[in-house]
Amino acid sequence: MSQTPPPPAPPRARAEIDLAALRANVRALRARAPRSALMAVVKSDAYGHGMVPCARAALAAGATWLGTATPHEALALRAAGIGGRIMCWLWTPGDPWREGIEADLDMAVSGLWALKEVTAAARQAGAPARVQLKADTGLGRNGCQPADWPALVAAARAAEDEGLVEITGLWSHFACADEPGHPSIAAQLDVFRDMVDHAEKAGVEPEVRHIANSPATLSVPESHFDLVRTGIAMYGVSPSPELGTPADFGLRPVMTLAASVALVKQVPAGHGVSYGHHYVTGAETTLGLVPLGYADGIPRHASGRGPVLVGGQWRRIAGRVAMDQFVVDLGGQTVEEGAEALLFGPGDRGEPTAEDWARAADTIAYEIVTRIGARVPRVYVNEVPEECDERTADE
Ligand SMILES: Cc1ncc(COP(=O)(O)O)c(C=O)c1O
Repeated sequence: MSQTPPPPAPPRARAEIDLAALRANVRALRARAPRSALMAVVKSDAYGHGMVPCARAALAAGATWLGTATPHEALALRAAGIGGRIMCWLWTPGDPWREGIEADLDMAVSGLWALKEVTAAARQAGAPARVQLKADTGLGRNGCQPADWPALVAAARAAEDEGLVEITGLWSHFACADEPGHPSIAAQLDVFRDMVDHAEKAGVEPEVRHIANSPATLSVPESHFDLVRTGIAMYGVSPSPELGTPADFGLRPVMTLAASVALVKQVPAGHGVSYGHHYVTGAETTLGLVPLGYADGIPRHASGRGPVLVGGQWRRIAGRVAMDQFVVDLGGQTVEEGAEALLFGPGDRGEPTAEDWARAADTIAYEIVTRIGARVPRVYVNEVPEECDERTADE
């Protein structure tokens, strides 16, 4: 595999994004669902990894669809020159349906209000809209209830006969796929099959039927249907500790979050540290200042607990995470200013992982990577040059 060396560290902090890892993860996920297409879910700035570079890397590794939540995200992909199929699913009244039609998006429809707006936009555009009808098979969030499904399917079929829409997909989303063996998984699959069956009997000929997210792609093969929609696993993060570690699935974390220690100083015993003095030094010690805070997405909830590798050792955040900085107690160890503080990454260098941070902040690893803020520059490594064939690049 050809590796490009990481660029020199910018002064304060960086989120290094390893696109070779992302490509390898896409290939590993495709191997788990070999008969299904793969939709790379790149919403929310690719879970904090950077939407456009990650979308390109996923496509280079064989993803054939991209998925976003909002139409604005999908339109931004088009504006960046990305072709192929892009689906977006979180629509609000008044959203840019017409632009979606003109940009060739596949647009989720969860209810009659949305069908009304999309057909009006199709009339204006003079072109049919590609729509994917979303069933609520038990998640209880977006999607059409089974009781309302016949009316939505009938209205969509009528719009299709009028040439206003093409129904390209039937789909749904799991509630508990990250809890192996949860009874709702099989129950949702049953409801999904029934709702698909009803639509097909009503004349819908979907190009794709899909329900699997990352945890289902990894652990529920009967959920793969025609397409799997993978987000978190593609970024090399485990959907849940119960399911396993990334390595258990041959996945490698894509993001490494690092900062440069901004100040090291000696303080006496009994010294309060950071707002509220929730940490007080037990003995004379050295403190290291890490210039990342909750404005950068470091959870304030990880105050006193978040792990950081500094000077070859795991240290815990001492006291509160502030807006722009936090402190670690170096226990008398001398570390130079400018030394690297590794918050999380693949773990190869002994650093914590996003899963470790999720535990420390009492949250899920999805939130840890996704919330890393815009002030932290993303530094892409192992990009494939445009003229280079991706398969040979990763050999
Ligand atoms: C509708 C939909 N599909 C797929 C995904 C991807 O889920 P995951 O990141 O677990 O793969 C999401 C993310 O939450 C989603 O909202």
